[in-house]
Amino acid sequence: MSFSGEWDEIYKAGGHNSVWPWSDLISLTYRYSKGNGKGQKVLELGCGAGANIPFFLSLGMAYYGIEGSEHQTKILNERFEDRGVKVMTGDFTKGIPFEEMFDYIVDRGSVTCNSYIDVKNTLDAVYEKLAVGGYFFGVDWFSDGHDALKQADSSTEFVDPYTCIFHKGYFAGLGTIHFFTEQQIYSLFRKFSLLELTEKKVTQYMPEQSVCASCNLAARK
Ligand SMILES: C[S@@+](CC[C@H](N)C(=O)[O-])C[C@H]1O[C@@H](n2cnc3c(N)ncnc32)[C@H](O)[C@@H]1O
Repeated sequence: MSFSGEWDEIYKAGGHNSVWPWSDLISLTYRYSKGNGKGQKVLELGCGAGANIPFFLSLGMAYYGIEGSEHQTKILNERFEDRGVKVMTGDFTKGIPFEEMFDYIVDRGSVTCNSYIDVKNTLDAVYEKLAVGGYFFGVDWFSDGHDALKQADSSTEFVDPYTCIFHKGYFAGLGTIHFFTEQQIYSLFRKFSLLELTEKKVTQYMPEQSVCASCNLAARK
């Protein structure tokens, strides 16, 4: 079974093979863990090509992942077999298939690839599987300030008012993309303590002018 059909095909074709850890996720993790992860467990939602795995292992954490691409899951379990890494193929919007409770549950750019209702279900599952005092970090959640949402046209399928499937432009072929409003994030994290929420807007001037807008956040159970 492979949940994220589009992503499985992208990885099989050698695309999005990010292997360098994402700096915003490193910053959030250091800010709240103080760099000490010994004896702690981290779960990553949608670990993709495994860019963030060596970083969490370097902090001494036990690493678990859920990934929709069966192809990528197999590669990661083989690559990190001797480091105790456990990655399962699954759809995190349907629940978290590990027995363990986690000190950290993290996401970079994966939760935003789902509709609003699926994000809501994901965060309910995250809340259940976080230890009391545990942290959730969300990085690169596209926001409603993003040009792609403003420029959606008749070729764009709307799953809900802020979730699109694009057939043209940068997001074409990447499946579902949700663009968060500030209010949606407050509502989604009602049960958590939301510790910080930032929005990054990156303006590209050339070769084409565009604005990429996304949110980073930290929350605690
Ligand atoms: C943009 S990539 C990010 C990969 C990785 N987190 C990184 O930072 O390099 C999005 C990933 O999320 C996975 N994904 C999206 N929705 C998912 C879901 N509901 N269940 C499991 N995996 C999902 C996709 O298969 C893909 O690998």
